[in-house]
Amino acid sequence: MSAQLPDLPCYLNGEFTTLPNAKVSVMDRGFIFGDGIYEVVPAYNGRPFRFDEHLARLERSLKELRIPNPMTKAQWRELVVELLNRYAASQGKPAAETTQMVYLQISRGVAMRDHAMIPGLEPTVFAMSNRLYIYTPEERAKGAACITADDFRWKKAHIKSTSLAGAVVSRQMSADVGALETIMFRDGFLSEASSSNVWVVKGGKVLGVPKDNLVLEGIRFGLLETLCRDAGVPFELRRISREEVLAADEILLSSATKEVMAVSMLDGRPVGNGRPGPIYEKLYAGYQRAKQAS
Ligand code: PDD
Repeated sequence: MSAQLPDLPCYLNGEFTTLPNAKVSVMDRGFIFGDGIYEVVPAYNGRPFRFDEHLARLERSLKELRIPNPMTKAQWRELVVELLNRYAASQGKPAAETTQMVYLQISRGVAMRDHAMIPGLEPTVFAMSNRLYIYTPEERAKGAACITADDFRWKKAHIKSTSLAGAVVSRQMSADVGALETIMFRDGFLSEASSSNVWVVKGGKVLGVPKDNLVLEGIRFGLLETLCRDAGVPFELRRISREEVLAADEILLSSATKEVMAVSMLDGRPVGNGRPGPIYEKLYAGYQRAKQAS
């Protein structure tokens, strides 16, 4: 059985089509090896949020995998704007009345199977857009339940690669117990969650992990630093031990889809007083202002 795909617009290798009609070769290296990269860009009121930063990361990921960037920045922007409009039209709305999540993927292209990179291939470019889920005020007031696990992924987590089996297994561990995310540790130190960055609040200070090869530098990484500065909240990036995470006053997640989310339960125990805390409230409010201002 395969899941029925919705009739949503998408883009594949130069043409707009719909999800049920978009077809890629079985020999695409994205399919065979997960040999590609991706981006998830939130778009509010028809405008991509922090798009330049997403494009810069897309470029960095492509460089790491030695895949040529098949489009200029202007072409990427044009593609995304067109996709936002087409998705909005499919919902019978102007783009300005939608909240969307654009997915961009580039794989190395199609070739007979060989682990080596095979230069000169035409990259496969795929893009789609869908509704961005907005958490309800009740969900936000409750905060998220998360679990902890060992970080068993590879050591190039800074590349936003489509090789995501590690993230899938990690995320399923939390899904199995009805939790939102799996917060991971490598050698006793915090790395990140299966598809979010993690922040720890202690004594009014926001702590994040160093930007190295063990974590994806989320687009909200820099944004949170700015929001902290604007709110007068001390901010520091350094290694964070498992004990510090377990003793945190607050724990936060950040990602394109979660924005900033408070973690209220960890491994079945309350974080702080078990409710989203004051630093979360400040940063969430700042995030909403940043969206308005963009
Ligand atoms: N995930 N770390 C990992 C491993 C991620 O997959 C993500 C994003 C982040 C946060 O990055 P950003 O702030 O740029 O969204 C951190 C996306 C949303 C996904 O895979 O769907």
